[in-house]
Amino acid sequence: MNLKINSFEEYKEQYKRSVENPDRFWDEIGKTFQWQKPYDKVLDWNFTGPDVKWYLNGKLNITENAIDRHLEKRGNKLALIWEPNDPQERFVRWTYRELHGKVCEFANALKNQGVEKGDRVVIYMPMIPELTVAVLACARIGAVHSVVFAGFSARAIADRINDSKAKLVITADGQNRGAKQIPLKRVVNEALENTESVETVIVYDRLGWSPQMKEGRDIWWNDAIEGMEKECEAEQMDSEDMLFILYTSGSTGKPKGVVHTCGGYMVYAAYSFQNVFQPEESDVYWCTADVGWITGHSYIIYGPLISGATTMMFEGVPTYPDAGRFWQICDKHGVNQFYTAPTAIRALMGKGEDHVLSYSLDSLKVLGTVGEPINEEAWRWYYNLVGKERCPIVDTWWQTETGGIMLSGLGKHSPMKPAHAGLPLPGVQPVLLDNDGNEITENEKEGLLCMKFPWPGILRTTYGDHERCRNTYFAAFKNHYFTGDGAKRDKDGLYRVIGRVDDVINVSGHRFGTAEIEEAINANKNVVESAVVGYPHEVKGQGIYAYVVCDKMPEDEDDARSSIVGTVVDEIGKIAKPEKIQFVTGLPKTRSGKIMRRILRKIAEGEPDKLGDTSTLLDPDVVEDIVKNAK
Ligand code: WTA
Repeated sequence: MNLKINSFEEYKEQYKRSVENPDRFWDEIGKTFQWQKPYDKVLDWNFTGPDVKWYLNGKLNITENAIDRHLEKRGNKLALIWEPNDPQERFVRWTYRELHGKVCEFANALKNQGVEKGDRVVIYMPMIPELTVAVLACARIGAVHSVVFAGFSARAIADRINDSKAKLVITADGQNRGAKQIPLKRVVNEALENTESVETVIVYDRLGWSPQMKEGRDIWWNDAIEGMEKECEAEQMDSEDMLFILYTSGSTGKPKGVVHTCGGYMVYAAYSFQNVFQPEESDVYWCTADVGWITGHSYIIYGPLISGATTMMFEGVPTYPDAGRFWQICDKHGVNQFYTAPTAIRALMGKGEDHVLSYSLDSLKVLGTVGEPINEEAWRWYYNLVGKERCPIVDTWWQTETGGIMLSGLGKHSPMKPAHAGLPLPGVQPVLLDNDGNEITENEKEGLLCMKFPWPGILRTTYGDHERCRNTYFAAFKNHYFTGDGAKRDKDGLYRVIGRVDDVINVSGHRFGTAEIEEAINANKNVVESAVVGYPHEVKGQGIYAYVVCDKMPEDEDDARSSIVGTVVDEIGKIAKPEKIQFVTGLPKTRSGKIMRRILRKIAEGEPDKLGDTSTLLDPDVVEDIVKNAK
């Protein structure tokens, strides 16, 4: 199955066709996949429901496309390479045939534990090859996987288990992160004190620890697969059956479960992977994301495997044992396409050029970035030093909700401009709207980034709450999907995504809602209320700045601060730690009680002279006080 566009001319031609006749365009692509029963209609949609269906009445199993289909010609080709945290430990290489056996075996183990089609399974695991096995085994039997990033706290896991009513949890005793070892099973145990739906926990032994195992509920991975067959018939799924839930933060309330379905997601993950990264048959492709995020789902597991590529997984961190680790791994495994996040690039930039210059990096062909806008300085460092001015950079803009890459260059076949994601992929129809919902048709203008037509990877709903899906993405502008991002379009039509226009903070490429962090801070016993904003952070992109009102001003501020950080770590996880906490006597509010975040943002950004209109404030003195004591 080769879906690759081979020149900029061909891109323009395909793009035109995809807009003029989307049905025909996506039908031609859809046909190249393996269906147990062909679909009878390509697309049915409206954005008012929303109600979007792709490849209607098609029957398939995504794992047959990701594994079985390759066995005949690529059975002995490497499907997966795994590089451990410790460079001295042996790496793992599995062929497609081996992967097939492992996925089937674990799929049988899940069935044996009573998991059925449609059941939800929460996966809370380190970046080890068994994580990929767990994900694909769920898909094999039609269970809905919900991977929870292994940095989230017990509370965050419990919330996700309760929202999805998961029946089974797959975890490990613990995980390696650089020089540290972090317990996972212990955190799961704590989470399960506050859940009712989970009947079984399967535990992979990564560290040889002896975590507490609950009789009748918990079972070791190796015991679960004992005696299981290495063949397992793939469950027949409808195109629109749920494939997975992935929780992500928005501007209001608790994280919501973004739902992706089988048919459209499969097609879009593979189509976008092949075109953006332009892999050749014998290439080794490496995405450094964690499978706990959408990037890991679409571009470590599904996109590459459906395309028959060799995908690499890395357990560790970019700076262990030193800041040359990424580049050492590229040389060691001959990586051809390398996909990472701007925050990682900026962190490594700070460690000096020598770490890069010690390696040849000759194998690299395409470099990618994702997760947040990449600043020009980081772009140049990546392009000049890592890519030696030979490798195109694909700056890929997309979201958990879009399932796959939406705006990006296609390998070397597209115009490239630092800090610009570029042109839409074929089938993607972005528009810029002004605040009133009017389309901005001129170039060199800025607006709200929306989509006016569906693509196969679009989210279908938010789990258990379709109204929330409608309100969040489809209610702001009639007949449009609203991304929550602001963007500019240059004179050539290239998009530059500037960042969120809603109350979402992007910390190191991870999304947090201000409301979610405030709720966590407010759970601290001394806190009365709080307001959280993002501020520019050299490495993380944005850092979290919290203004906190306590029942009385704390005598020991450091003490109070670490207590609040502790609460946030318990409520969400280490990744949501506020960088700065300022204790204040009150928050700037309008007469109707709304917090004026704009003012707080300006103060956090170090521009207290640009507060703008403060005349609607209930108590202007509060602001003066905050400015005086700003961090
Ligand atoms: C931001 C990650 C600029 C954006 C795949 C989006 C980007 C949010 C880029 C989605 C990029 C992602 N340039 N901004 N190349 N890629 N973003 O759901 O604000 O974790 O809305 O998906 O990240 O984050 P999410």
